[in-house]
Amino acid sequence: MTTDTEFTIPGDIAAKLVNPKVYATDELHETYAWLRTNQPLGIAEVEGFDPFWVVSKYDDVLEVSKDNKRFPYGNRPSTLMDKASVAMSMQMAETPIALSLIQMDPPEHMKYRLLSQSWFMPANLKKREEEIRVIARKAAQNLVATGGNCDFVADVSLNYPLEVIMNILGVPEEDFPFMLKLTQEIFGPLDPDVKAMMADMSADDISAIQQAVVGEMVGYFQTITERRRENPTDDLASVLVNAEVDGKPISDNALNGYYLIVATAGHDTTSSTASTGMWALATQPGLLERLQADMSLLPAFIEECIRWTSPVKNFMRSAAEDTEIRGRTIKKGDWLMLCYASASRDEDVVANPQNFDIDRAPNKHMAFGYGPHLCLGQHLAKMELRILFEELLPKIASVKLAGEPQLLESFFVNGLKKLPITFELAD
Ligand code: HEM
Repeated sequence: MTTDTEFTIPGDIAAKLVNPKVYATDELHETYAWLRTNQPLGIAEVEGFDPFWVVSKYDDVLEVSKDNKRFPYGNRPSTLMDKASVAMSMQMAETPIALSLIQMDPPEHMKYRLLSQSWFMPANLKKREEEIRVIARKAAQNLVATGGNCDFVADVSLNYPLEVIMNILGVPEEDFPFMLKLTQEIFGPLDPDVKAMMADMSADDISAIQQAVVGEMVGYFQTITERRRENPTDDLASVLVNAEVDGKPISDNALNGYYLIVATAGHDTTSSTASTGMWALATQPGLLERLQADMSLLPAFIEECIRWTSPVKNFMRSAAEDTEIRGRTIKKGDWLMLCYASASRDEDVVANPQNFDIDRAPNKHMAFGYGPHLCLGQHLAKMELRILFEELLPKIASVKLAGEPQLLESFFVNGLKKLPITFELAD
């Protein structure tokens, strides 16, 4: 990438974008707002990282996302990594144990996506509504059982989406704690609480641990594969293990990649969004009563929780050719960071974007991405969040914060990691 000083982001601002601590504070949204106003498509040059374009405006994220040929993943990682991790990830990509949709480019990507796309559509998901409601009732019982004082993340929102995902992947209930541990180990190491025990380890060692965890998860899913090949049901695992591409059963790599992306992408994202929902009920005057009086407002409430959280902070793309956006020349091979959480608060498409407001109509945001890679699980996420709040709302008469909420320190997927609340039970 050639540096063009006109479009270079000041070093102190660029450094924030790779600092996980910033993602746990309001500074993140201040930084995004600064970028949208002053350098909406600029180059970040930070020591230890390859330079990358920072795409912060809604329209630009949309333009890059919808053109998978001009902006594929190419041979670079799909998430932001420092140079050492990029080198390691490219080395591992030569003999991958899992190849997931989020790293695929055309034409393979669409062939693999279509295997499960109709399973994730509302008409099919409707069939699982009752099973998901059983899991949501359990989550609501867990809240009630705390007696009025709890950490909503630990006691409710962390487990609920995981249980839904495990249900659709055919994992039996006794293995849920094991899977929770694995998904946290894959996603969590950037957060100090999670990596306390890894304090003295190098990036290579941490990455090696993550690989081992991925290997452990893949090993576990082999059992599920065998069970579903023998006795298919109507769950997602049964669709995947019996799927074919170009007339042949899909490879173990592709199957593992599917299991992994569904197990990980469907968990922290939805959990963070559910926590935002409870945070909003605890902090926005009159919101709880308004929703209780009119549950038809729940979809609008959930959409705003999704916009507000935009839990996936970014994915990366590469340019396949020299091209131009917003008057900047992007060179073939340049790396671009799509800042979904910034696009979801772009003042050009969202009025008063820093306000939590369930009355936005339409509620335009970029939390699920756009184009060929648009989140496959978006209808499932919205459905499970709606069902969760349908079960929770009748149980509580009032709710307040009981301490300072804390966000996860991660520059990839983040949201609340602690939400202390006190609440009164409804009669
Ligand atoms: C609020 C919850 C969620 C949010 C905000 C979210 C966000 C995202 C984003 C930003 C992407 C990348 C889109 C792009 O590159 O344009 C994505 C992809 C994906 N998501 Fe989600 N997600 C959520 C829940 C889920 C759930 C519940 C599942 C499945 C159980 C899921 C499965 C996937 C998969 C499979 C992909 C890759 C699609 C592809 O590459 O074709 N997500 N998601």
